[in-house]
Amino acid sequence: MTERTRSRVQAAEMSFLRRVAGLSLRDRVRSSAIQEELGVESLLLRVERSQMGWLGHLVRMPPGRLPGEVFRACPSGRRPPGRPRTRWRDYVSRLVWERLGIPPDELEEVAGEREVWASLLRLLPRDPTPDKRSDKVTVHFINRDGDKITVKGSPGESLLDVVINEDLDIDGFGACEGTLACSTCHLIFEDDVFKKLGRITDEEMDMLDLAYGLTDTSRLGCQVCLSKSLDGLVAKVPESVADARQSQDG
Ligand code: FES
Repeated sequence: MTERTRSRVQAAEMSFLRRVAGLSLRDRVRSSAIQEELGVESLLLRVERSQMGWLGHLVRMPPGRLPGEVFRACPSGRRPPGRPRTRWRDYVSRLVWERLGIPPDELEEVAGEREVWASLLRLLPRDPTPDKRSDKVTVHFINRDGDKITVKGSPGESLLDVVINEDLDIDGFGACEGTLACSTCHLIFEDDVFKKLGRITDEEMDMLDLAYGLTDTSRLGCQVCLSKSLDGLVAKVPESVADARQSQDG
């Protein structure tokens, strides 16, 4: 699962859970606190657990069963055009390494023990690994009034997550809670940072077109995910904000 997909799943899930809890972004309650209050496990945690559960099945599958044979096959050469850049096997090995601390060369041995594997999956930590958390990225927001706010976020978090988690006072920011329906998370970046932000999807482009004060280096904060290479980035909040939902309703 790419960081972008993770971020979108999280945004959709939290938008739903906030409504169930009778809260909105303006209440500035952390996502983890809402999940705890409702007693629900995060969707990503469930997805990861089932991916790792399937990995255990594949590792223990006897020779001759097609899924196991495909998993054990090691094709070489270039991937055909249009295929994902990362193979599922590489993705899931890295996931196990990050979440359970099991290195790839021990993976088959550990996952081969059904009971051990099942108990490890039950103990899967709710949060990303401590390494990931300590690897914080510094972000500077320039607010509408020109004030500079400096905070830290984790790799993989979107700039909207950072605003919520750090309880930043940015008026009207993130009204649709990251579901690409409002454009209130419009941010302007410096040229060199903008080039590092990755591809803009058509959906983001459509929403950006409805933002006030659009520039050549504008992006939507809910679609920009942090990575170490963005450490120290400056994101300027435009002076005016447009909520695309109101323009469409009106
Ligand atoms: S929060 Fe609405 S488009 Fe980003």
